Amino acid sequence: MKTKSLNAELLTGQTGVRITGVNISEIREDQVLELKQLVSEYCVGVFPDQSLSPDEQLRFVERLDPLTFTPGEQRHSQWRHLNVVSLSSTSTLPPINGFHTDTSFVPRPPSYTTLLPKKLSSHGGDTVFVNQYMAYEALSPVMQRMLRGLRFRHNAAQLKNLDEAPNEPVWHPAVRMHPITGRKAIYITQPNRCSEVEGMKPKESKHLLEFLYAHCQHIYAMYRHRWQPNDFVIWDNRCSMHTGVFDHGDEERIMHRVMCQGEEPYES
Ligand code: SIN
Repeated sequence: MKTKSLNAELLTGQTGVRITGVNISEIREDQVLELKQLVSEYCVGVFPDQSLSPDEQLRFVERLDPLTFTPGEQRHSQWRHLNVVSLSSTSTLPPINGFHTDTSFVPRPPSYTTLLPKKLSSHGGDTVFVNQYMAYEALSPVMQRMLRGLRFRHNAAQLKNLDEAPNEPVWHPAVRMHPITGRKAIYITQPNRCSEVEGMKPKESKHLLEFLYAHCQHIYAMYRHRWQPNDFVIWDNRCSMHTGVFDHGDEERIMHRVMCQGEEPYES
C-alpha cells in the first residue's frame, strides 16, 4: 500500500493494516498523523516487534489524543492510565462479553485503544475486530434513512467496580461520522451496554438493536489477530468493535491497555 512515510500492508480486504519499519517509541510527528489516518481508515493497526515499557506506551498514546481511562476499571498503582487486562481460570469476571466498542457509556468515549501483550498463552487468546463502516455501508438506503437521527442509550455494565462508573446513561447517535475519514459507521455495543433506542417501544428497540448487532458481525468485515510477543495493536473505537477470544483455558494472558479520549460522537 502506498503511504508517504510508513510501510503498510492490508491484512484483509478493508479491515486491519500491518505497519512495519517504524519504532513506536521514536515515531516522528508526520508518521503519527499518517498512522492515525491508516488506523482510522482500516480500523486496526498492527505494529510488530515493539518492545515498549509502560512509560513508552503511555507517551505514545498521549500523542494521539489526551489519555483516558474506563471509570470502574482497576487502575495500576504506578501508571494511572494503564489498565492491566488479565484473565485466567481463576478470574471470576470475564472483562468483556462479545463484540463491543470501548467505554461508550461516557459522553466522550475513547478514540483509540492500544494493547500490548505482556504474557501470552501458548494457544488461543486472539482478538477479533469488526469494521463498522462496512456494516453501515451494507445496509439498504431505506435502513440507512431510518437510522438517521436515532440515538441509542449506552450504560455501564460488567465492570470491576460498577459503583465507580457513571450512573446516568448517555445517548449517542446510532450512526456516527468519523472526524478523520468523514465516513459513517454504526455505533453500537454489546447488548447489556446498549439496550434502548430513543423514542421506541421496548419491543421495537429490542428487535432493531438485535438486528443491528448481529448485522455488524459479518465475517467478511472481520480481522482476527493472532498475537505474537511484542505486537503493538491500535484500534479505532469510532469505526470498529472488538472482542478478546478467551479460549486459552487456565493459561494466563496479560495485556497492557492504554486509551485516549475522542470527541463527543456526532452524526454529520
Ligand atoms: C478489550 O476488550 O479491550 C481487550 C481485548 C483483548 O484482551 O483481546
